[in-house]
Amino acid sequence: MINLSGLLSIKGISRPELFSFFDQVSSTKNSSQKQNQKLSTTSDQVGILAFFEPSTRTRVSFEAAGSALGIRWIVLNPENLSLKKGESVKDTFQALALYRPDFLVIRHHLSGFCELAQKWTNLPIINAGDGFNEHPTQALLDAYTLWKKNPKKKYKIAFFGDVVRSRVARSDIYAFRALGYDLSIVDDGGLETKLFAKAFKVKLISRAKLKAQDVVFCLRVQKERGSQVQMPALMPNDLGKQTLVMHPGPVVAGEDLAYELCDFKAKNNLVHEQVENGFWVRKEILRNVLNLKKRGPKK
Ligand code: CP
Repeated sequence: MINLSGLLSIKGISRPELFSFFDQVSSTKNSSQKQNQKLSTTSDQVGILAFFEPSTRTRVSFEAAGSALGIRWIVLNPENLSLKKGESVKDTFQALALYRPDFLVIRHHLSGFCELAQKWTNLPIINAGDGFNEHPTQALLDAYTLWKKNPKKKYKIAFFGDVVRSRVARSDIYAFRALGYDLSIVDDGGLETKLFAKAFKVKLISRAKLKAQDVVFCLRVQKERGSQVQMPALMPNDLGKQTLVMHPGPVVAGEDLAYELCDFKAKNNLVHEQVENGFWVRKEILRNVLNLKKRGPKK
């Protein structure tokens, strides 16, 4: 899964694969913190960052982690590509592949786009979020954040907010389920949420049950994907004393999380830990993808 040349999906990942990956992340983190290591093997690697939707955390953490590994990046700005002149995306990606990058990191608004791009280019692709389909690197950093806190704990986690249009929810469900966590979704009364819960075999709970959770995983309303969800923001009095709050970001303060819950350094708030772990997790993903590239020189 993670040791394939690329990372399109987290679906089907196993607990041993996750544990082995988390061990790698922790060991890289510890050794890098001791002696700011760079991998000599990656110095000739070129990656393309192709983000067709806005991003702060994912794009910058990939760029920072890759730079720390010696990767040279080509950062595309979709506004300046010849797509604007009417060229197809397929022709665009086939042209990009001819410049022989070693891999691509892609974010796109179409669900399933990364799989298509891999077929067009035959290059390793890391899915940095495709429509409402998946966000596998986010799932790895979310799962790592909880595992790091307590590797043995079987967390009770409730998703709160716009689950239906969330690629994070989908990928997190695959990763959290592999770790044996107890998952639920807060019922907003909508038919789509009921159908989603049924399709993903996750139980629906009432908002009042949030107090009994170890973690509330809050999700932004995906207005750019046509969401009509109108749940009042998560409030401090929704939570138990020990309940941990997670959110993949970006947070819309007052809409997803009440302003009082937007102190990302607060004891029970993991938002900044998630963001920081994004760097280490993505560094390890890049190392896995690039280690496979040691098979031979570029032709
Ligand atoms: N969580 C996440 O994907 O954030 P960005 O959109 O800022 O990358």
